[in-house]
Amino acid sequence: MTNYLSGFGNHFATEAVAGALPIGRNSPQRPAFGLYAEQLSGTAFTAPRHENRRSWLYRLRPSAEHPPYTRYQGAERFAPGTSPEPLAPNRLRWSPAPALAEPTDLIDGITTMLANRDPADLEGVAVHLYAANRDMTNRAFVDADGELIFLPQSGRLTLLTELGRIDVAPGEIALIPRGVRFRALLPDGAARGYIAENHGALFRLPDLGPIGANGLANPRDFETPVAWFEDVDAPFELVQKSLGSLWTTTLDHSPLDVVAWHGNLSPWRYDLARFNTIGSVSFDHPDPSIFTLLTSPSDVPGRANADLVIFPPRWMVAEDTFRPPWFHRNVMSEAMGLITGAYDAKADGFAPGGLSLHNLMAGHGPDVASWRAASEADLQPRKIDGTMAFMVESCWPYRPTAHALEHAQPDYDAAWAGFPKARLPGA
Ligand SMILES: [Fe+2]
Repeated sequence: MTNYLSGFGNHFATEAVAGALPIGRNSPQRPAFGLYAEQLSGTAFTAPRHENRRSWLYRLRPSAEHPPYTRYQGAERFAPGTSPEPLAPNRLRWSPAPALAEPTDLIDGITTMLANRDPADLEGVAVHLYAANRDMTNRAFVDADGELIFLPQSGRLTLLTELGRIDVAPGEIALIPRGVRFRALLPDGAARGYIAENHGALFRLPDLGPIGANGLANPRDFETPVAWFEDVDAPFELVQKSLGSLWTTTLDHSPLDVVAWHGNLSPWRYDLARFNTIGSVSFDHPDPSIFTLLTSPSDVPGRANADLVIFPPRWMVAEDTFRPPWFHRNVMSEAMGLITGAYDAKADGFAPGGLSLHNLMAGHGPDVASWRAASEADLQPRKIDGTMAFMVESCWPYRPTAHALEHAQPDYDAAWAGFPKARLPGA
C-alpha cells in the first residue's frame, strides 16, 4: 500500500529500508549498505532559504553511471519545436484526439500542442496532451527541461518515480520535479490527459493577500510519496528531454533505485476536490486569478511565468451580475483544457480532452448561446456542478506546434458570430 507524506515543499525524510538514511549529515564517508549519496537541486545552491529546494538521494548506483545519449527516434509529436511561420492572431480550439490505433506508452504518446520560450531560457511553459495504452516496461523518462504536472482526463496513472510511487486519477494532478526519473503504468489499461511543462521558476502556492492564512489550495493536501525503489538488473532504456529534444541511453539496471531520501524537492499529488474555491458573495465576480492553484513567478512582480488555474464546482450567488466569464482581452495568454463536464462560457465545441488557446489580446468570452442564457437567467443561487476545467496562463504568448495548427477546429470563430447589436435610445 502506498503511503504519502503531507505538505507542500516540506522537508521530508523517508527510507524504504531501515537504516538507509544517514543521520545528521548528507554525505557520510560510507553511507549505509554501500549506497551512493547524490544531491538533486531544484534551485541554485544560493537561492534564498525560503525558495531553496533540494533533496538528497541514497541509491544503489550513482545516476552518473550511464553510457552516452543518442537521439531518440520515437515520440515524433513530442517536443518537435513550434511552427516557425508567422502566427495569425486567431483564437484556436481543438477537439479531443482520436483513440490510439497502436500500442503506445506514455513517452511515445505525448503530443506537444503549445509552447513559449526556449527551455534553455529557463522561462516559459509548454502544454502537451498524452495518450497511452501500454505500460512503460524497462523504460524510464526524465525531463531536464522542466517540472511536469500531469492532469489525467481519463484513466489512472501509476507514476513510479525515483522518490516514490504516485497513483493519480482523473480529478487529481501530480507533479514530477525537473530531473526526476520515472515510468508510468496504466492500471486502467488506457489513459489520456494533459501535461503542463514548466521551464521557469518552480511552481509554488500563490500568496493569499486579503484572503488570509487559509484557502485555495491548502499545503497539507499535497501528498508526497514515501521512499520506494526497484532493484532490477536488466537492460533499461532511459529517455531524456533536454534543451527541447529527446535523447536515449540504455542502462543495465533500473534507474528507480533510490532506497532513501530527504529534502524538500519531491513529487506530489493533489486532489482537485480539496481546492477551497473562493468567489463573490455580493456582485460581480473576481478576476480568474482567484482560482490560482499554483504559480510560477517571472522576474516581474505579479506577472506569472505560468499560473495553473482551475475552475471547479462552485456556487454562483452574485446578484445583478453576468456570471460566466465576461468578454475580455488580456496581456496574459491562456491555454485551457477540460477534465470533465462542461465549461460555463461555452455551450458546445469544448469537450473533455479538448484544448483551447486565447493568446495575447485575443478577444474572447462566452459564446452567443452562453451569453444569451446568462443574460436572461433568473439569478437565484446556483451550483455549477460536475465540471473541472483548468488553465495554464502565461505571460509569454504561446506558439502552437505544426501538428496543433493542422488539427485545430476550422470554425472556432463562429462561437462569437451573431451577437445582436446594442440598441441606443432613438436608434
Ligand atoms: Fe480568458
